[in-house]
Amino acid sequence: MLVLAIESSCDECSAAVLRDDALCAVQTTTQTIHRRFGGVVPELAGRSHLELVDAIVREAISQAGVSLSSVDLIAATIGPGLVGSLLVGAMYAQGLALSTGRPFWGVHHVEAHLWSAELTTGELPLPFLMLLVSGGHTLLMEVRDVRHYCVLGTTLDDALGEAYDKVGKLSGFDFPAGAAVDQAAAGGNIHAFDFPISKADDSYDFSFSGLKTAFLYAMRALPQHGLFDHMADLLASFQEAALESVIMKVRRALRQADYRAVVAAGGVAANSRLRVKLHQAADEVGIPCVVPPPEFCMDNAAMVGYLAWKLHRHGVPAPAYPSVHPRWPLNEWTHVEQPN
Ligand code: KG4
Ligand code: ZN
Repeated sequence: MLVLAIESSCDECSAAVLRDDALCAVQTTTQTIHRRFGGVVPELAGRSHLELVDAIVREAISQAGVSLSSVDLIAATIGPGLVGSLLVGAMYAQGLALSTGRPFWGVHHVEAHLWSAELTTGELPLPFLMLLVSGGHTLLMEVRDVRHYCVLGTTLDDALGEAYDKVGKLSGFDFPAGAAVDQAAAGGNIHAFDFPISKADDSYDFSFSGLKTAFLYAMRALPQHGLFDHMADLLASFQEAALESVIMKVRRALRQADYRAVVAAGGVAANSRLRVKLHQAADEVGIPCVVPPPEFCMDNAAMVGYLAWKLHRHGVPAPAYPSVHPRWPLNEWTHVEQPN
């Protein structure tokens, strides 16, 4: 089965072609227009998708060496995300589906991230513990099976990627700043500043706003002319506190149930220090740690097409009314179950 997929929920415009579970081609463009604004500007994101989507889809099809008429199923992210951005990808995909007479699959963006690691590893052992960390999501989830998911914890304020972006902006980096912070922190001392490690009570929820404020105060307390000399230490200490608060909860979850793997996804899963820490946590309980390569951690259409194929193979029917859902809270997402 040949699947054509589109992802346009935020600032990545991406198209992919898969033959069953094998990726034939993926084209992803990250919009750069938002850099100077320090965050994604929804109206500009939608307009930029309008300009990009047709060329990106054509490029993916041509790179895969197939024709549109040979595609069997067309998929697109229908939520959650920015309404204008979602509409561009979803309507473009549904237009193609109508004109070619092929079925359309509307995909939940978070569900696509959950299975993205299978693009490179094949089927994951079940159940697995999932850490989804991006600019929009911070979720610790139990993946029991296809369509059997359980949310253990989420963020009470900023998403982890958002905290990286805000701290990066204070440090003078362009948006999105996560990768630059990762790189700068690698040369710093993690013990130089004593930042709070948020425990957010004994739940599995996360909180990063206190840490962000502590970072700002630590910056202000330093002499302006010496700030640059302390930057790597400041960022390394921030990163350590942020990631330790996440890993603490991952460790606790791993001790409390028999997971067969720990898996990460989302843009922050590309972080070099997080990868080391996650592997250590998995080693402690003797299970594999699976983190996709960075291009599949960030938003991409390959994961959208893969999920559509996987659900189709499991006999799950496509959503009956595939309008877009900018807000699609997990508790309104019918496949989320309660913790045991
Ligand atoms: O998944 P993604 O591409 O888009 C969504 O937010 O859904 O994730 C983007 C986020 C941004 O906040 C970016 O700063 C962060 O991922 N990010 C990183 C790294 N690479 C990207 N954060 C920390 N370390 C990185 N290496
Ligand atoms: Zn995402």
